[in-house]
Formats: sequence, C-alpha cells, structure tokens
Amino acid sequence: MSLSISLFGLGYVGSVSAACFAQMGHKVVGVDVNRDKVAMLGSGKSPIVEARVGALIAEAHAAGRLLATSDAKDAILQTDISFICVGTPSLRSGKLDLSHIEHVSREIGAALREKNAPHTVVLRSTVLPGTTESVVIPILESASGQKSGINFNVVYNPEFMREGSAVSDFLQPPYTILGSRSPQDVTLVRELYRDIPGTRYETTIAVAEMVKYVSNLFHAVKVGFANEIGTLCKHLGVDTQVVTQIFTSDTKLNISPAYLSPGFAFGGSCLPKDLRAITYKAKELDLDLPVLQALIPSNAEHIDRAIEAVLRTKKKKICLLGLSFKAGTDDLRESPQVQLIKRLIGEGCHICIWDPDVSLGRLTGSNRQYIEEVIPHIGSLLSGDLETVIKGAEVVIIGTRSADQAQLSAYLRAGQFVIDLINLDAMRRPKSAAAYQGICW
Ligand SMILES: NC(=O)c1ccc[n+]([C@@H]2O[C@H](COP(=O)([O-])OP(=O)(O)OC[C@H]3O[C@@H](n4cnc5c(N)ncnc54)[C@H](O)[C@@H]3O)[C@@H](O)[C@H]2O)c1
Repeated sequence: MSLSISLFGLGYVGSVSAACFAQMGHKVVGVDVNRDKVAMLGSGKSPIVEARVGALIAEAHAAGRLLATSDAKDAILQTDISFICVGTPSLRSGKLDLSHIEHVSREIGAALREKNAPHTVVLRSTVLPGTTESVVIPILESASGQKSGINFNVVYNPEFMREGSAVSDFLQPPYTILGSRSPQDVTLVRELYRDIPGTRYETTIAVAEMVKYVSNLFHAVKVGFANEIGTLCKHLGVDTQVVTQIFTSDTKLNISPAYLSPGFAFGGSCLPKDLRAITYKAKELDLDLPVLQALIPSNAEHIDRAIEAVLRTKKKKICLLGLSFKAGTDDLRESPQVQLIKRLIGEGCHICIWDPDVSLGRLTGSNRQYIEEVIPHIGSLLSGDLETVIKGAEVVIIGTRSADQAQLSAYLRAGQFVIDLINLDAMRRPKSAAAYQGICW
C-alpha cells in the first residue's frame, strides 16, 4: 500500500526519513521553515550530507514521489501521515527546548482544523517522557478544535539512526517502537513499517519516549566506561585492545541483559572491594575516572532510597526475607541488606530476619568477623520460621529470591506493605492483598 507522508523538519532525521519512505514507494512531502532546505529537496537535492541520501532523493524526485513546501497546511491536506522531525536542542541550562515542537504542533493543528479526513501525527523528535501527552496532544487539540483518538491519531515513534549509516539504520533498525494511547491509533503507522525488519513493539507513549533516552544514555555510559577502562589499561601498561576483545566476547555476563534489571544495590565480597581497589589505584596514578568513581556513591544512594521507602510507610515492625547479598549463599560481607538493617535499627525499627542460607553457627572466617562487627547482636534478630516472621511484621522486605511464591502468598495479609528490593519476576510475586512496591520500578 502506498501512503502519502509529510515530514516536518528537513534536518538529519527528516531528510533520511524522506529519502527512505520515498524509496519504499510512498509519496513524500518535506516541510521546513528554512526555505533553502525546502528549495534543495524540491529540486531533488539532499539538504544534508549523508551516505546514500542524495541518490535516494534524486531518484524519488525524478519519479515524482518527492515534493517540498514551506506551507504546513498544503502538506497536511495532501497527506495521510505527518512525521514531526524538528530539532529539540538544549537550552543553556540543559533543559530541553520544546519551542520548535510547540510551533510545529500549532501549525499542524491549525491545518487539521481545515481537514475533514483522518490524519495521523507521528512524533519522531526526541522528547522527555510525558511531552507528547502534556505538550503535543493539547496543542494539536486546541489548534485544531478536534480530539486525539477521534478526529486524528497521535503516535510516538523514536528514531534510532546513527549519522554516517543512517539509511541502513533506518531500513534495518534494531526495533521499531510505536507508542500510542490505543492500538487503533497506530493502524496506519503499523502498515507503513510492515516490511521493515526487526521486532515491532507497540506500547504506551511514555515507554516509547523513555526507551529512546535509555538507549542514548546507555550508549554514553558505554563510551565513558570504555574510555576510562582504556585509560586505566594504558597507564597500567596493559593492552587495551586485547582486554576489550576478551571482555566483550562474554555475552553471558558482560554484553548481555545480566545486571541490567533495576532492583537493589550491589554488594558481596567482590564488587565493592574491587571497585575500591581500582579507584584507589587510579588515584595513585593521578587519573580522574568519574564514571568508575561514581559507582560506590550511586550504590549508597540506592540503599538510602530503600531506607526512605521503608520509613515512608511509618511502620516500625519490619522483617527482611534474605540477608545475604543473593539467595543460595551465606556470604554477608558487604551485603546491602545488612547495611539496610543496620540503618533501620538506628531509626528505631524492630527487625526480624529470615534467611534459610544464613546460620550464625555455620558462619566462619572473614564472613563471621564482618557480621559481628557490623551487627553484633544479629543472632537475636534471625529466625528460621518464615510464617512467624511475616505474620509479625507490618513491612515485609524481600531481599533475595529465597522465599517461594506459595509461602509468601499464604502468609502475607491485607494491610501489610511489601517492599521488593530485587524486582521479582511477575511469576514469582506473591498473590496477596498486601501493598506491593519496589524502590526503582
Ligand atoms: N541526528 C540524529 O542522528 C538523530 C537521531 C535520532 C533522533 N534525533 C532527534 O530527532 C530530532 C531532529 O534531529 P535532527 O538532527 O534531524 O535536527 P536538525 O536540527 O538537523 O533539523 C531540524 C529541522 O527542523 C526544522 N524546523 C524547525 N521548526 C520547524 C517547523 N515549525 N516546521 C518545519 N520545520 C521546522 C529546522 O529548520 C531544521 O531543518 C531531535 O529531537 C533529535 O534529538 C536525531
């Protein structure tokens, strides 16, 4: 099916999209406030320098499938779908400048007022979660005098192209994300992307807006991490390339979803210790490595958030299910749950702990020494009876995967608060009337 598409904003995203949609056989109308860009596209030339775009635009122009205008109304009236690809730069403060988005939304809304046929508006520009709902849709509705979902549809569809390989990224994206208020709103856009490979996710507008940011943030974290590791290797006289090659070849723990599920703080006998050793070594080498140095403070902040979540319940009888840093081990060294309990005791909470893997009598060596130093009277807080522990508490903290779903469901009751630190899978969460929450989900 051939569609008619208008693209507002002929920068990188708009020009690449224009070239690719036209190449897919659709009729494309490019719109920009910059008349030079409109004139270029209108004469079959690319407004940007990007591999393959010039050739695709020339071909589509020659075939009569590519037009350009600076008249928003003209573009809206002759197309079925409009993509908003205008810039969202930073203000001096870092705040996102939405002035172009607001302006183009007003223009599209005013044009929709004159249109009596269905239209879909697709926002491609990168905007913070909530922007489509709180800025774009209200402007479109007030300028058009129409209702989103009734007279026109709105979809948020983030762009994942990289400059330099934008055409192949457009035609073979990692995935396509369509955020909308309802599945009917995406009908036309779903059709448009029918032949584009990769998984298509249909989700809420806010999730679609957020995934774009999360992707870019993660890329930035990866670059910062890689460069700090390389710097460290260079100063330690270690071959950066070989380290990177071997490190990235582990797709089980390193380049994988492992450790990427929002949950609780890290702990245990290795991560905190090894981070301290490396950041201390960096200091000795007179190296500033802010990404690595930020990790221990970031972890401590996360423990603070857990304490605040418990204190916000205004309850004092607290139980913790799982004391060690993960289920199946009795290693208490630097367990964030131990830190949490110590701080809650300081706040006057009455604590009861259940952990089938931890028996004080069996703890030995540095593990025993650690717990005796941090919580000397831990023995009086531990109980082996899960039912009594849960039933006696007002707040139940799930610290590890030790307790099973059936037991949790049987013992929890309405009126209790459950704080799930580890973000249990939906399948493992208790079915009960207790109020259930996480600290970062
Ligand atoms: N450049 C990338 O690689 C890339 C990748 C993914 C997402 N994004 C996001 O996409 C958006 C666009 O990025 P870009 O790099 O293409 O921007 P850009 O600055 O290159 O182009 C934006 C264009 O919008 C035009 N414009 C402004 N107001 C307009 C209006 N009212 N009507 C019509 N045109 C108008 C400008 O004249 C300009 O030509 C941004 O939100 C950006 O964050 C960019």
